[in-house]
Amino acid sequence: MKSTEQALTKRTDSPEAPYWPSGRLLGHIHQMGEDPLNTMTRAHREVGELVRIRLGHIPGYLVFNPADVKTVLLDNADLYAKTTRGYRKLRLMLGNGLVTSDGQFWLRQRRIAQPAFRRKSIAGFARSMTRATEDLIARWEPVARTGGVVDVADAMNALTLRIAGETLMSVDVTGDAQIIARALDTAMTRFSQLVSSPLPYPEYWPTPVNYRFWTRLGQMRELVDNIIDDRRRSGVEVHDLLGMFMAAEDPETGERMTDQQLRDEVLTMLTAGHETTANALSWTLYLLSKYPGVVQALEAEVDSVLAGRRAGIKDLAQLTYTAQVAKEAMRLYPPVWLVARQALCETTLGGYRIPKGAYVFMSQWAIHRHPKYWPNPEAFDPSRFAPDRPAPDRFAYLPFSRGKRQCIGDRFAEMETVLVLATLVQHYRFALDPGHPVELEPSVTLRPKNGIRMKISRRE
Ligand code: HEM
Repeated sequence: MKSTEQALTKRTDSPEAPYWPSGRLLGHIHQMGEDPLNTMTRAHREVGELVRIRLGHIPGYLVFNPADVKTVLLDNADLYAKTTRGYRKLRLMLGNGLVTSDGQFWLRQRRIAQPAFRRKSIAGFARSMTRATEDLIARWEPVARTGGVVDVADAMNALTLRIAGETLMSVDVTGDAQIIARALDTAMTRFSQLVSSPLPYPEYWPTPVNYRFWTRLGQMRELVDNIIDDRRRSGVEVHDLLGMFMAAEDPETGERMTDQQLRDEVLTMLTAGHETTANALSWTLYLLSKYPGVVQALEAEVDSVLAGRRAGIKDLAQLTYTAQVAKEAMRLYPPVWLVARQALCETTLGGYRIPKGAYVFMSQWAIHRHPKYWPNPEAFDPSRFAPDRPAPDRFAYLPFSRGKRQCIGDRFAEMETVLVLATLVQHYRFALDPGHPVELEPSVTLRPKNGIRMKISRRE
């Protein structure tokens, strides 16, 4: 295996990957900004497994073959960095947290944060997850009684934000700290404009939109800083993620996180953890409404495992079909639908040349529907993940990405989706409001554009 240094100066004689002509001055910027999901699906179908595109003056590569995805995310991960426009803009919002940092700094932060996400460390959060879901169920009661309709996307967003606030820093974000919900919403909207518009105006121009972006971001940072400050002063140990981060030491150097790092990590976890999980749940409910056979099997499992009780951490081992449903929903509607990297040097991928500075895109949306790896790819079939079936190729199924930058919150998210889903299905049935069109919005996460309106009815 060559050293990273050797590889970084590498020149290749490999051929250029097939180019997909765009016929536009800025290359594929418009297509990728306006309709990235269809653009990628078409590129795959029309050109092949590795497609060369152009984003203005930057060469881009769309990677569909799981073996090539493995090369980028695992085998040659050191040759690719998180320096694309998306990550640079995300850094404005999240600072130098785990999602946006790179290199030695990232490694140190990851080592410090990792123990907080072990199965044992997060087990205590199960209660917060089911309690918050039960509160929602109670709030829905009057709506269900009158045959009413709810926006499940809104509801799942509020629910997962509440869970994130409680488990991260023991704060009720639905109450006092609405600043957080507002700031996250404003920041995500501005971030999407900065990343997907072909020529966005910069974030430092004195416009009302930028003003709101910076003001709300400032309020949210101040709030998190105050929480950290109060903790330091009181000296009381609290069992939440912030408490674990504050107490954790780098196993190699014994260093702890500074206040600034703590703040960046808290904001990172809030952002990375709540909208992703909300979308996973919303799309699951959407898919269930179209597959009554799956609902039947799911209800049967939930009723037999829980027997009317509140779901808890010990039930997870038995809620296997529920977990399969959540996995299959994340295959078809991956909350993170695209992962991007920038080549640090010239290298090869799948036998083709990748120039230094090129952007490399791996789309969960397209790869999770790759016909070679997923027979009948459009069908929602949780039995694909049954324990007695062969496990899918690890790099053909990557809702949490793979390699060293794999999501640190994957187990947390799996536990949350299963517990919330089981609790919802235990009490309610969901039917899509036929008058409401459900559309995809591939923003930072794969959102339902105008929400998902559903009629809810109480199960007897
Ligand atoms: C269904 C829910 C979730 C999905 C689909 C998801 C997906 C992902 C993906 C694809 C990445 C890699 C992104 C990249 O390469 O840029 C990632 C990274 C990350 N996620 Fe998640 N995530 C979820 C929930 C969570 C939760 C609940 C947390 C925290 C409580 C979290 C925290 C993070 C962090 C900190 C990273 C960066 C890890 C690193 O690079 O060291 N995520 N997530």
